[in-house]
Amino acid sequence: MEPSAEGPLLRTPLTDAFGRPLRDLRVSVTDRCNFRCVYCMPKEVFGPDYAFLPRAEILTFEEIARLTAVFARLGVRKIRLTGGEPLLRRDLPTLVRMVAAVPGIEDVALTTNGALLTRLAEPLAEAGLRRVTVSLDALDDETFARMNGVGFPVARVLAGIEAAERAGLRPIKVNAVIRRGLNEHAVLDLARRFRGTGHVVRFIEYMDVGTANGWRLDDVVPAAEILAQLDRAFGLEPIPPEAPGEVATRYRYRDGAGEVGVIASVTRPFCRGCTRARVSTDGKLFTCLFASAGFDLRRLLREGATDDEIEAAIRAVWSGRRDRYSELRSRATQRRRKVEMFYIGG
Ligand code: GTP
Ligand code: 5AD
Ligand code: SF4
Ligand code: SF4
Repeated sequence: MEPSAEGPLLRTPLTDAFGRPLRDLRVSVTDRCNFRCVYCMPKEVFGPDYAFLPRAEILTFEEIARLTAVFARLGVRKIRLTGGEPLLRRDLPTLVRMVAAVPGIEDVALTTNGALLTRLAEPLAEAGLRRVTVSLDALDDETFARMNGVGFPVARVLAGIEAAERAGLRPIKVNAVIRRGLNEHAVLDLARRFRGTGHVVRFIEYMDVGTANGWRLDDVVPAAEILAQLDRAFGLEPIPPEAPGEVATRYRYRDGAGEVGVIASVTRPFCRGCTRARVSTDGKLFTCLFASAGFDLRRLLREGATDDEIEAAIRAVWSGRRDRYSELRSRATQRRRKVEMFYIGG
């Protein structure tokens, strides 16, 4: 029998070893990117000869939609498409339409560098995309070029944000990774630019994801420092979280000009409320951004497993989950082999 609309509610609630439910799914739809951000795919490592995944290894839209449906049966309500740069995946609106149609999925979102948004915002919104998060690490071309590694101009990202706005994908979240010595001055620039627009800037602590970026603790600008800078300039007050397990700590400008946030995964880890699963470009299930290995869902899909078998496999992985990397972060955990962010789905 097909599961009814109430089906998922009748299933045994799925929680991990620490009682955390599975609510969000992040899917990396491509491991490629047109940027070479210093903190993610530094151009010295990801040069012209770097071998990205061949097409046959990448999940098809049908496979992603099928997995989404199984995850929805297990309690997932929110799906976020990431990469790499998700807009590089051909026909992305078609995938959005397919996942938005999955029973139980209430929210389809996308994290992008914005470079191709002017062309794609409208068709994505039409296909059922609800929200976009656009990464933008500086407002001056010199700094932004140093951050994105390919000399991409700020104006084209801003044009992408405007296109998303026109397409009704609002409010937009703007993500800025702050790295010591590179773009600290972007904090006030970005805050000033987006105050009063309804969009929410979130400043992200530089994280030790993967190994290619050569992360050092000294390069992290702690959220407390960013907040002090914002508070001095504009006056801030905290606002309560919208949902449990949110990654951003939220604030409002005292003068009513809107909201701003920090994502303090290094200095204030939020593993306790972590309800996120990730599926990599080639269909591996990861239960932590900092994991070294994932569970091969693609093999199940391609060997003809039934939905019930896939569901049972995901249940087994999630119920044994004990990840809390950011809370345990130490020299030993950092030295562990870790997968890269563009592959696992940010
Ligand atoms: P919504 O809550 O749906 O708005 O999205 P989000 O804020 O989770 O998504 P986004 O892709 O904008 O991520 C923001 C930043 O938080 C990125 O740098 C992510 O890598 C980071 N992040 C997201 N989830 C996790 C997580 O589970 N652990 C850690 N350490 N960082 C995360
Ligand atoms: N530390 C923090 N944030 C990162 N991102 C990519 N790499 C890192 C890192 N090492 C951000 C991107 C994007 C989001 C998905 O993750 O800028 O906004
Ligand atoms: Fe590309 Fe995003 Fe990584 Fe930058 S952070 S290199 S835009 S995937
Ligand atoms: Fe979740 Fe791992 Fe991030 Fe902690 S470090 S919040 S467990 S993804």
